[in-house]
Amino acid sequence: MEEMKKKRILSGIQPTGTFTLGNYIGAVRNWAVMQEQFECLYMVADLHALTVRQEPAALRAHTREAAAMLLAAGIDPARSILFVQSHVPSHTMLNWVLCCNTQFGELSRMTQYKDKSAKHPDNVNAGLFTYPCLMAADILIYNADLVPVGGDQKQHLELSRNIAQRFNNTYSPTFTMPEPYITKAGAKIMSLQEPTKKMSKSDTNANSFILMTDTPDQIMKKFKRAVTDSEGVVRADSENKPGVTNLMSIYSVFTGKEFSRIEAEFAGKGYGDFKEAVAQSVIDTFRPIQEEYARILADKAYVDQVLKDGAAAAARIADRTTAKVYRKVGLLQL
Ligand code: TRP
Repeated sequence: MEEMKKKRILSGIQPTGTFTLGNYIGAVRNWAVMQEQFECLYMVADLHALTVRQEPAALRAHTREAAAMLLAAGIDPARSILFVQSHVPSHTMLNWVLCCNTQFGELSRMTQYKDKSAKHPDNVNAGLFTYPCLMAADILIYNADLVPVGGDQKQHLELSRNIAQRFNNTYSPTFTMPEPYITKAGAKIMSLQEPTKKMSKSDTNANSFILMTDTPDQIMKKFKRAVTDSEGVVRADSENKPGVTNLMSIYSVFTGKEFSRIEAEFAGKGYGDFKEAVAQSVIDTFRPIQEEYARILADKAYVDQVLKDGAAAAARIADRTTAKVYRKVGLLQL
């Protein structure tokens, strides 16, 4: 019997700071699980981070920390390829060709570009504009079948598909059409202070997000201060009770309990007990990851070796695609 070939997954995360609870639930946690089923490539997208001004030393530190956190959260370098985007130069080589095959109008329609250029009017750089072409290169260079992305990256993935299809039609079939891979539960975690806004580490109010490196004390305090409502009933209703519903989502992810069970558990109890239970579930889940993280990060040589091996393995795949594309578009090869 012919063995089923595993589907290939590629995903990336920017090293713009310590990962939040939202990053953990929306991405990191799923990345570890997907290793069971797929051939996975996971990338620390340091080049994408440059589209916003970074403090060089901080970017360097955050890149290694991001890799260490991914390892601590269960990414297994024996099964998956973990690497840093800038360590595989082929991405930027393919990026150029894709830039030349993407229209100004298409890039102008990207909502993230519009949002980010409004937020940083002093630095509307060309990289910010062509960001989706680099992301398309990241994906297409590995012929990824599936790309796990959150809502904010869906439009970019859609554009990657358009770029792939156009290239395949213009030249000849080259790229696999990537599909979005949507994970079900707890996709979007909201701010603890303004629960109609996504949780973000760039929020000016540090009480609005939980970092994966927060101490148990910090986690407990932030949850106790979380914005809820005056009804005093633990009940899911994302429209009228976004704060409570967000806390229920978090609790559900960390305990595996359904909403109805959570409602029953806290029937007749106040938000105080509820918030404490949510915080405790996060503290308990993060504790072993934080211990692993501290241990791994202390061994820089180990992290760097994983990243070197990862870059070499990634480059073996990526360089072949780039060579093929360069030949197809007519660049002279000697
Ligand atoms: N742009 C993504 C983000 O900010 C990160 C990223 C870069 C990515 N390249 C990717 C995600 C390729 C998926 C696939 O979240």
